[in-house]
Amino acid sequence: NSAPVLTIDGPSGSGKGTISRLVAERLGWHLLDSGALYRAVGYAAGAEGLDLSDTEAVTRCAQTTKIRFRDPGDGGETRVIVNGHDATDELRTETAGAAASAIAAIPGVRSALFEKQRDFRRNPGLVADGRDMGTVIFPDARYKVFLTASADERAKRRYKQLKNKGLNVTLAALLREIQARDERDAARTVAPLRPAEDALTIDTTGISVDSVVAAVLSVVRPA
Ligand code: C5P
Repeated sequence: NSAPVLTIDGPSGSGKGTISRLVAERLGWHLLDSGALYRAVGYAAGAEGLDLSDTEAVTRCAQTTKIRFRDPGDGGETRVIVNGHDATDELRTETAGAAASAIAAIPGVRSALFEKQRDFRRNPGLVADGRDMGTVIFPDARYKVFLTASADERAKRRYKQLKNKGLNVTLAALLREIQARDERDAARTVAPLRPAEDALTIDTTGISVDSVVAAVLSVVRPA
């Protein structure tokens, strides 16, 4: 499979989701939101009443959970269907993020999702958003970017995002949750969060979305 891939990795709130979507639109490429897969498995495990530290049961859950992305076709948000249920709203909560981060540290879960993620690689190209896109899933990607931002800025962005979606959160609690999640993602032994050696790191603190999109696009299409 030789379809070009652009990997966009980084911590939560680094702007990855927004930037990946806009860049994929601009390039006319497919999009993989790999975080949604981990969120979906965490959600399915919770719905089955599994103990998230039961690695065997959660691995089995990752292997059997059916996850589909559905484009509503009206320019609206992509829906995530988990075992036939539209779980989009449940998946965006910080609770779902924490569950995702917990089950994402289980090696069996990561291998269960390995091929599923690689299947997204199709022509004319793929923008892959996650934590280990450039290091583990698409190490041979043609273009690699790592987005960062200060923890404060990331908490503020997340706060705005969740508020806009009508969720009840406080900035202080979000900052704590985001820091805890990043520490766990960076400290785990399988696929820890870190930039690929050949990735271009972009610090997005105080930079507008448009400027970041332009910077990422220039990696794929140098002026
Ligand atoms: O990007 P998002 O916040 O949706 O990801 C939720 C969680 O899923 C992350 O905190 C991380 O633990 C996990 N994840 C991962 N590898 C990826 C994408 C997400 O471990 N490629």
